[in-house]
Amino acid sequence: MNSEQKCKNGVFIAFEGIDGSGKSTQAKLLAKRLKDMGIKIYETREPTDAPVGALIRQILTGRIKTDNKVIAALFLADRLDHLLNNTDGICGKIEDGVTVISDRYYFSSYAYHSVDVDMDWVINANSICADLLRPSCTVFIDVTPDESLDRIAKGRYQSELFETKERLTLVKEKYMEAFEKLKDKENIIIVNGNQTPEKIAEAIWNKVKCYFE
Ligand code: ADP
Ligand code: TYD
Repeated sequence: MNSEQKCKNGVFIAFEGIDGSGKSTQAKLLAKRLKDMGIKIYETREPTDAPVGALIRQILTGRIKTDNKVIAALFLADRLDHLLNNTDGICGKIEDGVTVISDRYYFSSYAYHSVDVDMDWVINANSICADLLRPSCTVFIDVTPDESLDRIAKGRYQSELFETKERLTLVKEKYMEAFEKLKDKENIIIVNGNQTPEKIAEAIWNKVKCYFE
């Protein structure tokens, strides 16, 4: 694959939501369900574990400080590598007919970076990714910032750059703004995340099963 081509064949589902909304829980539940049906699945996430993703994690924990546009650009570089790298790039998987489930994709950039940087700039910068691979659907797990912060507090100790109530409230608003802006181009599924994991998984399944029938 190179950046001039479009990926086709497999289904690509991106999970989105504010920190602690339950994305990785739901990504795992959906992946398990599909594996049990005998469908080939590749589970992945952003920021990645590749070198640019590792650098981003040092920024998120505050070990490295830099400008917000630089952060947005690093996430874009990480995403392009996520799509195109020769070892386990998503585009290669999709070409091989594998179903890819990613915990975060470009809507995370639209929402998180547009708090500080113009949203259209972020969307334009990421258009190379949208041209390469638009998700079959983007599943947004909708929880209140209070609920997500509660879950984060119960689940782990280290808090990251974006994990304050004020910030998550703004990020959630930006997600909604991005969904509205791109509603004609993107297939967006919003599910109520303030339910048990099993109920959320059922609601998601009812919306995505059409890709596997
Ligand atoms: P994210 O990937 O969005 O950060 P996680 O799936 O890691 O979220 O969930 C964050 C925390 O909340 C974890 O401790 C997880 O066990 C818990 N959790 C996930 N889904 C639910 C839910 N529906 N209700 C209550 N707690 C949940
Ligand atoms: P992650 O480790 O997935 O956090 P969580 O499990 O809490 O959702 O993501 C790390 C952080 O990176 C998260 O706060 C969202 C942020 N982020 C961006 O700011 N831009 C992006 O493009 C992506 C993919 C994530």
